[in-house]
Amino acid sequence: MPVDRSSLSRRLLLAGAGAGLFSGASAQTPPRSGLSGIAARHGVLFGAAIEPDTVDSDPAFAALLARECASLTAENHMKWNMLRPGPGRFEFEGADRVVAIARRQGAMVHGHCLVWHEANPAWLVRELTTGNAQALLEGHIGAVAGRYAGLIRSWDVVNEAIERNDRRPDGLRKSLWLNVLGPDYIPLAFEAAHRADPGARLLLSDYGLEYDDEPWMVEKRETLLELLAGWKRSGAPIHALGIQGHLIGHRPASFGPALRKFLRDVSSLGLGIDITELDVNDQNLHGSAAHRDRIVAQHYRAFLQVALSEPAVRAVTTWGLSDRYTSKSSMSARSDGTGVRPLPFDQSLQPKQAWFAMADAFAQRQHPEKTRN
Ligand code: G3I
Repeated sequence: MPVDRSSLSRRLLLAGAGAGLFSGASAQTPPRSGLSGIAARHGVLFGAAIEPDTVDSDPAFAALLARECASLTAENHMKWNMLRPGPGRFEFEGADRVVAIARRQGAMVHGHCLVWHEANPAWLVRELTTGNAQALLEGHIGAVAGRYAGLIRSWDVVNEAIERNDRRPDGLRKSLWLNVLGPDYIPLAFEAAHRADPGARLLLSDYGLEYDDEPWMVEKRETLLELLAGWKRSGAPIHALGIQGHLIGHRPASFGPALRKFLRDVSSLGLGIDITELDVNDQNLHGSAAHRDRIVAQHYRAFLQVALSEPAVRAVTTWGLSDRYTSKSSMSARSDGTGVRPLPFDQSLQPKQAWFAMADAFAQRQHPEKTRN
């Protein structure tokens, strides 16, 4: 599927022109300050996931994003169900807008996600067979990662590949791709992404790795380490692990020595580590907004203090930036009907205690020794 990059570059040029980026003047990106400025001084790339409509329709939010974020993630627009309206068809409009917003704001882009067991169009689920799966997988990744080659810092190539409840000896999830291609779908996906964009940092990302006192998470870490070691031995171009970081406000913030050791073990495989979807679910927290904000901030601080103690952790992305726009409003609504408060900025785009907790965690990071990851 030839990639028509001319339309993409024209869109990017048009988008950039609006901000004087390509109007002949030197590139004018907002002065870097906020969380990304603090994080950058301590070796961390800070960003947030976005939906392009919320940026294009809300200038105040767009300005906040430009000030706070040095990286933007497509929350949904680079998933199969948004990109692929039908067999052999691509719809890049939303994904192009995310890339254009990032270029306008002088931010990098994290692509999410080339392969996942969710957010797949019905036609794919219906038509996928052992006979066409490899061509469909490689064709999709080649077209999507190829279209944005050189414009994207990193990709979640395979997302949430592990599910121990599926009872496979290797701990892999019985996803639609595994069912037709077997475990090889994972190295296949990474090799296709590396061919399409040799300069991109390629991640395997997953959730449920954060808490030391959660036995299934501890087991998942062990399973993941074994799989990563195998893929690295076989030469798969996996560059980093993406730890999603969807934290749970109503449970103990048990981020301790076992998490620290897990991060060290991942790093010793020669892998980098990105925190890719950080937020704190306050759905089941009781009390005033100020009380809930205090607990949410404690989770951000406690998790980041451990995560940032590992030099291989090089990027932190929150799953949204403000409570004004978070999918938790629908996915984790509170029973008391009050708004959820999982992110560093409130609905009025004011910094919350979580913002200061994150700023402290970045600022208190010991300067990481140079790492190859
Ligand atoms: O865009 C359509 C809209 O046109 C339609 O009217 C509306 C109602 O059906 O749906 C809209 O699409 C929704 C999309 O979010 C954009 O809002 C999908 O139905 C909905 O399923 C989708 O949910 C996303 C979910 O992943 C599934 O893709 C969430 O926003 C997103 O935050 C969530 O993010 C995931 C990561 O990708 C992977 N890790 C877990 C994380 C949280 O679940």
